Amino acid sequence: MSGVYKPIKISDHVYWVGAIDWYIRDFHGYTTKRGSTYNAYLILGDKITLVDAVKAPFKNELLSRITNLVDPREIDYVISNHSEMDHSGCLAELIREIQPEKVFASQMGAKTLREHFSIEEELIPLKDGERLSLGNLNLSFMETRMLHWPDSMFTYLHEDKFLFSQDAFGMHLASGERFDDEVPSAILDYEAATYYANILLPYSPLILKLLDKVAASGLDIRIIAPDHGPVWRKDLGKILDSYKRWAEQNPTNKAVVVFHTMWHSTELMARAIEEGLLAEGACVKVMSMDSFHRSDVAYEVLDAGALIAGSSTLNNNMLPAMADVLTYLKGLKPRNLLGAAFGSYGWSGEAPGQIQEILAGMQVQTVEEPIKSKYVPDGELLQRCSVLGATIAQKLQEELRP
Ligand code: FEO
Repeated sequence: MSGVYKPIKISDHVYWVGAIDWYIRDFHGYTTKRGSTYNAYLILGDKITLVDAVKAPFKNELLSRITNLVDPREIDYVISNHSEMDHSGCLAELIREIQPEKVFASQMGAKTLREHFSIEEELIPLKDGERLSLGNLNLSFMETRMLHWPDSMFTYLHEDKFLFSQDAFGMHLASGERFDDEVPSAILDYEAATYYANILLPYSPLILKLLDKVAASGLDIRIIAPDHGPVWRKDLGKILDSYKRWAEQNPTNKAVVVFHTMWHSTELMARAIEEGLLAEGACVKVMSMDSFHRSDVAYEVLDAGALIAGSSTLNNNMLPAMADVLTYLKGLKPRNLLGAAFGSYGWSGEAPGQIQEILAGMQVQTVEEPIKSKYVPDGELLQRCSVLGATIAQKLQEELRP
């Protein structure tokens, strides 16, 4: 195996041996504009241990980085913190090739990996809180169910105060830099929030419990090493605080107006709603599905207090791009939102009602019946839209008052 790809030293005993995917732009519906990394880590202890692997096509990049440190067949233990294929896609082949002494995963992980890959080798399940000795080093494990799959767990390396956190605290960001302090903070903030909004948002109640569990564990954590994006070594408090804020989903003064329009009538309504929101002091983001991707909308909804959605009616339905984004948002389960529906139509006008129904299914508190405009909205109808915006802005302010 050629060693053209180099490992990066992360701590006294840990090297990054992952892969950089500069080109990926779609992660099951989430647009990854800056690519991603699949982070894997090699612990050079008495028992040489690989923590997580990479997506199947990147196996040789992983092996190449490892080869610069040890012969991959010298790896004693493999630990899989998360069974999703971006971290385990090459695992079955890798295990066959390097023949480690033992392979570990959480109890659910051992089951999931077998179901995915028909791995014949023994997979040793680890319990929540279990410890494992690598001879001179010690690991502990913590179950983190649904962060991001039922099988997920954290691994903690006591001697390096090092938390391997798989998807948690990660981001889709391809870069040659491996640490948080080497990447501009605006990029870290944006990509970490986008990742949370598009991947982890549905599990926010569990994430709040997990943050408490980590705090109560008393573990002294100096490095957080996720399976995507940079390793956190400088400002761990910042990402932990962000996770708490995102998971709490407290109301804010921000409204997202998302719409799709055929001949600009629904767009005129959206802009009138925007004006009403602004007049009453709300922070507004207006997003036409012509110009934004569904994952951009998810990013904006993450810290919003209102979601106002509109569509023209086409063949008795909302426009397909609106069905797309609303289906996506519904699955992400944003909470604590006010909302409303609107849209123009020619003769049947079902779309606003359909949108209102979806918003209700998302537990969005709608403030009034959908506003509909037959053909092009006149001044009176646009005024109604503006009043709707103002009403929502006032309600957001009321929610924020102590
Ligand atoms: Fe990065 Fe849930 O996989």
